[in-house]
Amino acid sequence: MAGIRLIQHAPGAPGLRWLGLGPGFKPTRGLLKLQRLLNKHAFWAQGRSTANLRKILAGSNVIISLWRGKRLVGFGRATSDGICRAVLWDIVVAGDLQGHGFGRQVIDALLGAPGIRGVERVYLMTTKSQGFYEQLGFENSTSQQLLLLKHKNN
Ligand SMILES: CC(C)(COP(=O)(O)OP(=O)(O)OC[C@H]1O[C@@H](n2cnc3c(N)ncnc32)[C@H](O)[C@@H]1OP(=O)(O)O)[C@@H](O)C(=O)NCCC(=O)NCCS
Repeated sequence: MAGIRLIQHAPGAPGLRWLGLGPGFKPTRGLLKLQRLLNKHAFWAQGRSTANLRKILAGSNVIISLWRGKRLVGFGRATSDGICRAVLWDIVVAGDLQGHGFGRQVIDALLGAPGIRGVERVYLMTTKSQGFYEQLGFENSTSQQLLLLKHKNN
């Protein structure tokens, strides 16, 4: 599909975080657009305030956004120690553009980014999209279990 642009942000995405920068480093209310994308297409990430999104970006080592013109159509981020462990978070593609390979582009860009490339283990958690990740080389872990701290709302 023509006109899709992928941005690999600097760690913490300062331009997106503080100035809402999009493609070409132009201000485009990017943070509000991210909030809307997550509210609409990422059921686990609804209702995050822009203040919290800023903190979330600041705490992320690798951040990818996908744009069609001034529209934010895809997003993904990762936390990583750069050597041993990385975790992918908040992978999303706008509903009308799903199924065109953009999710794959976001994952490939995350995995190829300097902060993740070469890391010993890459984890992710998914509720509904296991099949998508299996297409991209992830597998269900049988040797480890996911544990959640009790008494947390989320
Ligand atoms: C999951 C999501 C990111 C996938 O993005 P996408 O752009 O639709 O996926 P792609 O078109 O890049 O698909 C890549 C491959 O995975 C396959 N695939 C996509 N979704 C799949 C699914 N649910 N089950 C099995 N395979 C799937 C595609 O067929 C494609 O395979 P191919 O290359 O052999 O044709 C997107 O559908 C989305 O944002 N969903 C809502 C939010 C969400 O659930 N995110 C995951 C949170 S953990």
